[in-house]
Amino acid sequence: MEFSIKSGSPEKQRSACVVVGVFEARKLSAAAEIVDHAATQFLSDILRRGDMEGKAGTSLLLHGVPGVEADRILLVGLGKEREFHEKEYRAAIACAVRQLNETGGFDGTLYLTELNVKKRDVAWKIRQAAIVVQETLYRFDRLKSKKEEVRRPLRKLTFCVNRRNELTIAETALAQGLAIAEGMDLAKNLGNLPGNICTPSYLAEQASLLGSTLGLGVEILDRGDMEKLGMNTLLSVARGSTEPPKFIILRHESGTSGAKPIVLIGKGITFDSGGISLKPGLEMDEMKYDMCGAASVLGAIKAAAMMKLPINIIGVIPTTENMPGGAASKPGDVITSMSGKTVEILNTDAEGRLILCDALTYVERLEPECVVDVATLTGACVIALGAVATGLLANDDSLAKELLDAGHDAYDRAWQMPLWEDYQEQLKSNFADMANIGGRAAGTITAACFLSRFAEKYRWAHLDIAGTAWRSGKEKGATGRPVPLLTHFLMERANRSIQQAPKRRRK
Ligand code: BES
Ligand code: MN
Ligand code: ZN
Repeated sequence: MEFSIKSGSPEKQRSACVVVGVFEARKLSAAAEIVDHAATQFLSDILRRGDMEGKAGTSLLLHGVPGVEADRILLVGLGKEREFHEKEYRAAIACAVRQLNETGGFDGTLYLTELNVKKRDVAWKIRQAAIVVQETLYRFDRLKSKKEEVRRPLRKLTFCVNRRNELTIAETALAQGLAIAEGMDLAKNLGNLPGNICTPSYLAEQASLLGSTLGLGVEILDRGDMEKLGMNTLLSVARGSTEPPKFIILRHESGTSGAKPIVLIGKGITFDSGGISLKPGLEMDEMKYDMCGAASVLGAIKAAAMMKLPINIIGVIPTTENMPGGAASKPGDVITSMSGKTVEILNTDAEGRLILCDALTYVERLEPECVVDVATLTGACVIALGAVATGLLANDDSLAKELLDAGHDAYDRAWQMPLWEDYQEQLKSNFADMANIGGRAAGTITAACFLSRFAEKYRWAHLDIAGTAWRSGKEKGATGRPVPLLTHFLMERANRSIQQAPKRRRK
């Protein structure tokens, strides 16, 4: 798809279709008013006849509208004007794209990007529009032998802005939105691929591919390397599987040399059967998504590299299957982690924290500015926050705030939970330094408490994406979250580093 930005009058656009909005109670948006005026009340006549009310989710395609250059005008219902917020804006763009894809035309000119969304600027509207378009057109059909074909697919979209002086900002925002959308696409594809294809080795290959196309440094550690490093808790999870585990390190180093890197760690369990503490069979297929943390780290780094953000980022991905093979870890086993701390495995299904803890120890040697881990870690987080917010826990409040703000800016929101000392008690073990589970109460928090014990040497935050990384049910599939949140966090860091860079003296 080709995208562009324009500023100009809707009746003068030579386009297969110009898209304008109509609010509930048949109230025309500003662009629709202009079209109506040029067409001598053609639109308001149609609305008066009752063909469209302006309800959200509805649309009306008009041919042969007099006084306009475009072949068609698409009216998109926006709902109540006072209730037109982020969600409604995104839904209107999605509705327009679905309709445009079904018309005979190959291009469309969207005036919906001119609508007011409370507290959101032009850049936000354009970024979101680019993302929503890509989300709406996303198909995962590579495993179907016959692909569904769109008869005359949309090839070119133009987003309109109110004023000429908004063009530059909008162009930048468009590039950002497309980079984020690309990152989300990568995360979704990896998430949607089944466990028999998307193995730890496959993730490693994809990381290498990403590295060579975008000029990133890639290092892949195998089982032998991990043994030498003493990554025993990670390896204890891999023991039950015949797939070899991998430890992926991906570097985007465009910042000041020597500047401490931002480290992103992603949980990469390519299938979580639960191990010996086997999961129930119902919906077990969804545990192929247990590598969405890893996928979102790859996606965010891809977006950051496409935007050429002038910062140093290192992605770290511990990846393995969690299977109940003959050599698998058993409940009661005690393992010495890379940090030297011992862990009693009371439940082999709490495997995410076991692979992450060694990764958290490993990254100490990278001397990180801060560390953010991303993981589909607990079912408890789905119960607490559902599919709306990502769970956020941190040992540093300013880092937590940055991530919360990034989530707000990206409309990919997170919600903070407490990491108070009081919860640490639940991890007591009679036989080792700690147990790997903390009982049913506060499951998301005790999981983060476990991780916090391996993240004492730097500023650290943890994102539990068990509820947000994929959708269950009929529309089953990966969502690409939290790529937007992570990318906005990195974009903001890049802004800061540009502002802080020493200014060159004038001669
Ligand atoms: N990958 C799961 C978490 C999960 C569960 C994500 C459901 C999405 C939906 C994780 O490895 C796990 O099994 N966690 C256990 C921890 C428990 C044994 C303490 C859980 O949440 O049940
Ligand atoms: Mn598990
Ligand atoms: Zn898991």
